[in-house]
Amino acid sequence: MPPSPRVLVSSEALEQRVAELAAELDRDYRDREPPLCIGLLKGSVFFLVDLLKRMETEVEIDFLQTSSYRAGTAPGEVWIRKDVEIPLRGRDILLIEDIVDTGHTLRTVLDLLAHRGARQVKLCALLDKAAAREVQVPIDYCGFTIENRFVVGYGLDHDERYRNLPYIGFLEEDEA
Ligand code: IMP
Ligand code: MG
Repeated sequence: MPPSPRVLVSSEALEQRVAELAAELDRDYRDREPPLCIGLLKGSVFFLVDLLKRMETEVEIDFLQTSSYRAGTAPGEVWIRKDVEIPLRGRDILLIEDIVDTGHTLRTVLDLLAHRGARQVKLCALLDKAAAREVQVPIDYCGFTIENRFVVGYGLDHDERYRNLPYIGFLEEDEA
């Protein structure tokens, strides 16, 4: 058994910050039409569920899955693996993402949503690896800004492992 990842953000800290974000979102979406919350698969799932359970605002939920690399494409090129099912035209969209790293994924998704005629798009990201950014994306709601290191848990994976860790951690070999 490999050692457990070291704790970077504990489950208690996650729970508290998620509750704060939910309260902020409730304030901002009060008296508006129910937002369409779009989770980016698969990493955002744990965050999305915890966040939306904490919110009192009525919401709709859909999912989008991107993939950031395919043989024959340039690094940084993003393609849609699974599309949303609910029409986006005229909708207020709250994109829910696990982590913003280089920003290529979000830039592509934000452009797509605008192209599909969304009325408004806000981005809620649990983690911001600000130092790794290559293209700018506005993060409207951010859980934590973290150092530029590879993290796992609470939805985030390393080769599909560690997603169900209840905290955000980093692997020993990646120790800075
Ligand atoms: P970006 O397009 O470089 O911003 O990458 C975004 C995606 O890469 C995220 O949605 C994650 O799926 C994945 N990713 C980036 N950094 C990490 C990390 O530290 N751990 C796990 N997945 C990551
Ligand atoms: Mg992701």
